[in-house]
Amino acid sequence: MSEESFTITDNRSGETVTVPIVDGTISSAALRELDKGMWFYDPAYMSTANCNSKITYIDGGNGILRYRGYPIEQLAEHSNFLEVCYLLLNGELPTEAEAEEWVHHITYHTYVHEDIAQFMKGLRYDAHPMGTLVSTVAALSTFYPEAKDISDPHNRLIQTHRLIAKMPTMAAFAYKNRLGLPYEYPVNHLGYTGNFLRMMWNVADPGYEPDPILTRALDILLILHADHEQNCSTTTMRTVGSSNADPYSAVAAATCGLYGPLHGGANEAVIHMLHDIGSFDNVTAYVEKVKSGETLLQGFGHRVYKSYDPRATIIKKTADQVFEVTGLNPLLDIAMKLEEVALNDPYFIDRNLYPNVDFYSGLIYEAMGFPMDMFTVLFAIGRTPGWLAHWQEMLDDPEQKIYRPRQMYTGPDERDYVPISNR
Ligand code: SDX
Repeated sequence: MSEESFTITDNRSGETVTVPIVDGTISSAALRELDKGMWFYDPAYMSTANCNSKITYIDGGNGILRYRGYPIEQLAEHSNFLEVCYLLLNGELPTEAEAEEWVHHITYHTYVHEDIAQFMKGLRYDAHPMGTLVSTVAALSTFYPEAKDISDPHNRLIQTHRLIAKMPTMAAFAYKNRLGLPYEYPVNHLGYTGNFLRMMWNVADPGYEPDPILTRALDILLILHADHEQNCSTTTMRTVGSSNADPYSAVAAATCGLYGPLHGGANEAVIHMLHDIGSFDNVTAYVEKVKSGETLLQGFGHRVYKSYDPRATIIKKTADQVFEVTGLNPLLDIAMKLEEVALNDPYFIDRNLYPNVDFYSGLIYEAMGFPMDMFTVLFAIGRTPGWLAHWQEMLDDPEQKIYRPRQMYTGPDERDYVPISNR
């Protein structure tokens, strides 16, 4: 097949250039042959590919998601979160020996410095756990000043181990702080997710063991949240990392991006919405409010998926297993009615609005006992390996440099200063 391309003529100079089309994408380099100073106005990067990446593939039209080529459905069924962390960061599934070494390194770094544990107590007693997490991840950068040397691959790997390992500990400590309860320190024989659940729920019971079904369900949810190509928080990670900032500062920035209700904060917003709707009978009226533009249907819509988010399908299946242990979340009926009404309403169909990863995840978290303001913290634990894999890939990419887009200036022309007495 001949190379796909289009030809463009600049009527200012009469020059013509042929622009190759590769995988439906054009490179700015070809167009800049016409005019070195040419920029592309693309608000919110809606039509911009900012990098080449081998990590995650999404086909938004067909609801396909793959990590390093492996379909998310197979990873959710057969893998575990730490193995997926390894896959995202290394590009291949680990051998048994590699997996054993990887789990050892992560397990070894689950503790935080006691001064960090103390630092977390200095925040307001009822601080939102995401605010605590963001602050504490940034504070970690002061405990590992060597992390600034991002040119040393071994140094980058140790900080990667530390960040993946410590996110659950910081999350659980933020939760315990808010309740005025003592910290439960990591006991590493439980595995990554079981250890997190013990740190969350155990109070002074040395024999505490988390429910294995709930542990597996949460591990699957962490897998589903592990990466999603150039989403807002991952682009933030790449942007901050592109200035050669240390990975703790970059992860703290990415966590801030995730905090927003249009991004990772949506899982919390969904449950607030379902509680506001309150009953099955109020669903239709709420949908009308959404269609009037008065509010959003939280957990619906996506910049890339113009079909059902494959993660939402898996989460819905996982919910059934969780509810067998915890009892049905009464909000499920409202959520399913909301989905049914929306998927049959032209307003949502015309706008390609389907449930995304956040629509059902909060129902599981709430059924498992997590308070709503912990939901996005759980998303951050899951997304940490994705952020770090993209940070690593960006640093190793010879085409990448500090992110510094331009703008279209629409402000006032030059004008002279006016003394305040004359204003
Ligand atoms: C995540 O990018 C990622 O990959 C993110 C993520 C990941 O794994 O990292 O998948 C995680 O962030 C999932 C999304 C979670 N957010 C929400 O559920 C919040 C509700 N959703 C919307 O805010 C919205 O759908 C976005 C932000 C997710 C996507 O917004 P876009 O792509 O900018 O789409 P848009 O705002 O241009 O919407 C197109 C139209 C608009 O209507 P019109 O102006 O054309 O009339 O659809 C409407 C929007 O008003 N619309 C919605 C809607 N989402 C879009 N209307 C009602 N409810 C919604 N949820």
